[in-house]
Amino acid sequence: MALAAVVLAAGKGTRMKSRHPKVLHRLGGRPIVQYVVEAVREAGAQRVIVVTGYGHEAVAAVVGELGAEAVLQEQQLGTAHALLQAERVLAGFRGDVLVVCGDTPLLRGETLSRLVAQHRASGAAVTVLTAILENPRGYGRVVRDAAGRILRIVEQADGSPEELAIREINTGVFCFAADGLFAALREIPSSSQQGEYYLTDILSVYLQNGRSVSSVPVEDPVEAYGINDRRQLAAAEKLIRRAILDYWMNAGVTVIDPDSTYVDREARIGPDTVIHPLTIIEGDSVIGAECVLGPGARLIRARLGDRVSVQYAVVVESRIGERSTVGPFAYVRPGCEIGAGVRIGDFVELKKSVVGAGSKVPHLSYVGDAVIGEKVNIGAGVITCNYDGEKKWTTVIEDGAFIGSNANLVAPVTVGRGAYIGAGSTIRRDVPSGALGVARSDQKNIPDWETLRKKKARKTT
Ligand code: UD1
Ligand code: CA
Repeated sequence: MALAAVVLAAGKGTRMKSRHPKVLHRLGGRPIVQYVVEAVREAGAQRVIVVTGYGHEAVAAVVGELGAEAVLQEQQLGTAHALLQAERVLAGFRGDVLVVCGDTPLLRGETLSRLVAQHRASGAAVTVLTAILENPRGYGRVVRDAAGRILRIVEQADGSPEELAIREINTGVFCFAADGLFAALREIPSSSQQGEYYLTDILSVYLQNGRSVSSVPVEDPVEAYGINDRRQLAAAEKLIRRAILDYWMNAGVTVIDPDSTYVDREARIGPDTVIHPLTIIEGDSVIGAECVLGPGARLIRARLGDRVSVQYAVVVESRIGERSTVGPFAYVRPGCEIGAGVRIGDFVELKKSVVGAGSKVPHLSYVGDAVIGEKVNIGAGVITCNYDGEKKWTTVIEDGAFIGSNANLVAPVTVGRGAYIGAGSTIRRDVPSGALGVARSDQKNIPDWETLRKKKARKTT
């Protein structure tokens, strides 16, 4: 049977106190709504419709990337009104409609599949996913009769003290038979307290119309967790991050201290990699096997080969070849291609540069817009002068060259294969292969300088 999913995500998320729509806030490095869209897909939804409103364009762009359709709810008149907006795109749809709030990212696809299966098995018009919470505050409570049949869902703001004492809550997830759904939504009266149309009130409408209402409890109540404010965002972040780390630990990665390690959902890590504290792996970074990361590594959309070591360093949008080491205290900026067995040492900044296999940039250098060959040695304090105030220029250093300490290479310039550069030189012209390039004034020694100075001083007093 066909399954469509509708994700309700039009609300501003007032309690977030944010300029940005709530569902675009990030969790594990990706938008909250992405978790929900992926979960409903996993549950078998062939079509995913996201109801957007506040920040419509931004949300529509994000969900469009995920292959979902956005429909606009112009005014946020409540969750029932939000679902009604999907009628436009679901006209004539036969099958079941899975409805999920955009702000419950911990729901698992498996749980939603189970809900759909039980809904189909029971033949109910609607099946609600419920949860039993220690602290149900803020959620709608599930009110049942003496025989345990669902009567209605009461919102926090509208409940009597007895109702608010109920610990079974509405997760906001429903599976509906499409048949008659939109007609029933139109029958929902606006709630007297808030002037909104509550989707939860559809249960009373169905029961009045003699249609059957069913429920399924969620096994792990943490899945029901909804994000309404920044404290809940931080709490969800912690749960999601821990789940990501558990996944990688199960896959053979050592995480020394999970409390101080942050890995985004899109990142990949090879087995036997060891992650030391205060390491942050962001975006779709790909880390090889047997790497040693941290302490203090920040990798942003980086690609690391096997057995790479990075400590107290930042690597952004760059590739590091196998067995290379970076840091401590290095900054690899976007666009670097670093080969195998390279050493990028302390206080080195690299930008948009290629460094060939076996080369070393061990200390105190700035290397920008450079193409460095294999087995090149860059002395301490070497600087590529890549910018003339208007344009960036390339420095080429061919295989096996040796650049003496504190040299300035004024680009565009090429140092040939196996060439040497004298320490402290400012090189403005190409140096041919095998040559020594020196560009510094000759040293002058003035003999007996100390004695002469002292004599001079005595005369003046
Ligand atoms: C809602 C449920 C509550 C449930 C809880 C689960 C209702 C009335 N209440 O409460 O029973 O326990 O979720 O987390 O359904 N939205 C729209 N358009 C609107 C209003 C809301 O798209 O006009 C979207 C929001 O963007 C959000 C979702 O619906 O993603 C839920 O809205 P929210 O205001 O967070 O409802 P809760 O108070 O959490
Ligand atoms: Ca909510």
